[in-house]
Amino acid sequence: MSSACAEQRLVFSPGLVQLVQDEVLPQGPRVVVTGATGLLGRAVCREFQNHGWTVSGTGLRRARPRFLRCDLTDEDAVRFLFQPDVLVHCAAERRPDVMERNADAAVSLNVHASTACGALLIYISTDYVFDGRNPPYGEDDCPNPLNLYGRSKLEGEREALRHCPGAVILRVPVLFGEVESVTESAVTSLWQQVQEATEERRALDHCLQRFPTDARNVAAVCRKLAERARQDPSIRGIFHFSGKEQMTKYEMAVAMAQAFNLPSNHLVPLTELPAGSAPRPVNSQLNCSRLEQLNLSVEPRAFSVAISECLWPFTADKRWRQTVFH
Ligand SMILES: NC(=O)c1ccc[n+]([C@@H]2O[C@H](COP(=O)([O-])OP(=O)(O)OC[C@H]3O[C@@H](n4cnc5c(N)ncnc54)[C@H](OP(=O)(O)O)[C@@H]3O)[C@@H](O)[C@H]2O)c1
Repeated sequence: MSSACAEQRLVFSPGLVQLVQDEVLPQGPRVVVTGATGLLGRAVCREFQNHGWTVSGTGLRRARPRFLRCDLTDEDAVRFLFQPDVLVHCAAERRPDVMERNADAAVSLNVHASTACGALLIYISTDYVFDGRNPPYGEDDCPNPLNLYGRSKLEGEREALRHCPGAVILRVPVLFGEVESVTESAVTSLWQQVQEATEERRALDHCLQRFPTDARNVAAVCRKLAERARQDPSIRGIFHFSGKEQMTKYEMAVAMAQAFNLPSNHLVPLTELPAGSAPRPVNSQLNCSRLEQLNLSVEPRAFSVAISECLWPFTADKRWRQTVFH
């Protein structure tokens, strides 16, 4: 982050922020990213910063020292979020099973915090707003979420559009990217089972069809949407973006093993869903043609290439670090 963000971090009153922005910050479009410490938020901050935007971020547990610490379930804190040119709202509780256990706080975050409004609000949503029975889903198809996470994100979309009629809703499927630990994404978590090449079998879901999507691509789409929307007020409403490769978790894990030349015969496809977890859509493939027609999409790289780049810092075999990527 630029040193200008340090100025913003210290200030938590709209009048003062205005003063600081007018006198200290470089001119140019300003974006605030909520959830800037998360998987997608970090990628969004980097993408906008690399394209000349002045970036500020908020986080919660991991906020300090880089970002403003701001609990978005606190209505007063949300009211005091300064008004940027663009607000990319990434903060959320995105783990369906955790949501079912901590419903009140998570719903409050996923729904009510969406009323924080900049000149343009980009609200990040999910393919879990669909029930997965009749893919692919277009932007106008009727949502029917199966679990509390999907319901809370759908309600968040509606709140965002109610409070900010010009808002952009960007729905994306399961994400991977440059993680701080492999457990940070449902995709990179599979690396743990891939590396455990023991006699013991590792059963992995082979029922639910997924479209693993690179957070760096989502960040680029957010930036393109923001830049176009500033010139064209018709850029509003719901958009879909997704990776193109359809894979189960089992297939993702096998692809990771192959990419690193590791054995995969300890990985076993599980064709029945485990009991007790929150229900999930079987196939919520997103039709992304609206973004494509407007030339606002990006072409994802092959999953095996993109995931290798994200996983190499976690490889036990040092040869990967030295010979492949350096
Ligand atoms: N990850 C996926 O597979 C996926 C798939 C589809 C859609 N999405 C959507 O994409 C967006 C970004 O997801 P992500 O994977 O980047 O999430 P993440 O890595 O879990 O990050 C969540 C972010 O929210 C912040 N946060 C949590 N509780 C907060 C609170 N009470 N107040 C303020 N901030 C709070 C966290 O801050 P601290 O870490 O500092 O506490 C963190 O920055 C979310 O809207 C999610 O619904 C994600």
